[in-house]
Amino acid sequence: MTSAPTPVVECRGLTKVYGQGDTAVHALRGVDLVVQPGELLMLVGPSGCGKTTLISIIASVLDGTEGVCRVLGHDILHMRERDKPAFRLQHLGFCFQAFNLNPCLSAAENVAVPLLIGGWRYGRALARSRELLDQVGLADKVDAMPEQLSGGQQQRVAIARAFAQEPDLIVCDEPTSALDSTTGEKVLGLIRDMTHSTHRSVIVVTHDARIFRFADRIVAMEDGRIVPLPPGTPGPTPAASHLTAVAAPS
Ligand SMILES: Nc1ncnc2c1ncn2[C@@H]1O[C@H](COP(=O)(O)OP(=O)(O)OP(=O)(O)O)[C@@H](O)[C@H]1O
Ligand SMILES: [Mg+2]
Repeated sequence: MTSAPTPVVECRGLTKVYGQGDTAVHALRGVDLVVQPGELLMLVGPSGCGKTTLISIIASVLDGTEGVCRVLGHDILHMRERDKPAFRLQHLGFCFQAFNLNPCLSAAENVAVPLLIGGWRYGRALARSRELLDQVGLADKVDAMPEQLSGGQQQRVAIARAFAQEPDLIVCDEPTSALDSTTGEKVLGLIRDMTHSTHRSVIVVTHDARIFRFADRIVAMEDGRIVPLPPGTPGPTPAASHLTAVAAPS
């Protein structure tokens, strides 16, 4: 008998309160969530329901208040501040709505940054960046500066960068919000292919129902909690159904 895989993310009763006293905002009110290896999970819900807060805690860039948040078995809420940068560098990739490309670096150099920080030599890092940019369809743009790229192309550079170190977990906050629908679908198709081909886990926060079909599983939030999906929400494609059985216990 094979044992269940260790979850990449495990949140139990996770809360987050911003501020205190009369002005306290209860952004997370007890979140239970499990993400499995190789899973592309989409997190949906109305503005202000706590999506960015949740993925920021999981990504160890924001402190949680109470509960449990384990990422790759590491207790994020009790991790020492000085250990977090190395943890992020080794295990996490980020892809945010504002692509955060360095305007002074070419596309290939932007993708190489996490590799260089991780100790790769310049030539090898550049070669790897070129390979990744080829995979995202930008082989002819490796030397372009961000200002010479369209929004969709910049987003693809950001995705290549997020996958560069082959992190175990990648978090994407609204990766298609600045893109037209065709480009948005291409970008998600790319994220899905890279997730499955490298068996990474990805959490995508989105409002964009057009991309729901790329998910292995969709989780809805409302007012700081995980809630059942609204009826009629378009689901993942049947090919992804093998993963829908690993939803977090309620
Ligand atoms: N730094 C902060 N200080 C105080 N309150 C905050 C802070 N960041 C977020 N909030 C509040 O926490 C709640 C959750 O915010 P969050 O950004 O996680 O929502 P979201 O689901 O990502 O929304 P959106 O879809 O608009 O991006 C909101 O009420 C927000 O106003
Ligand atoms: Mg947000």
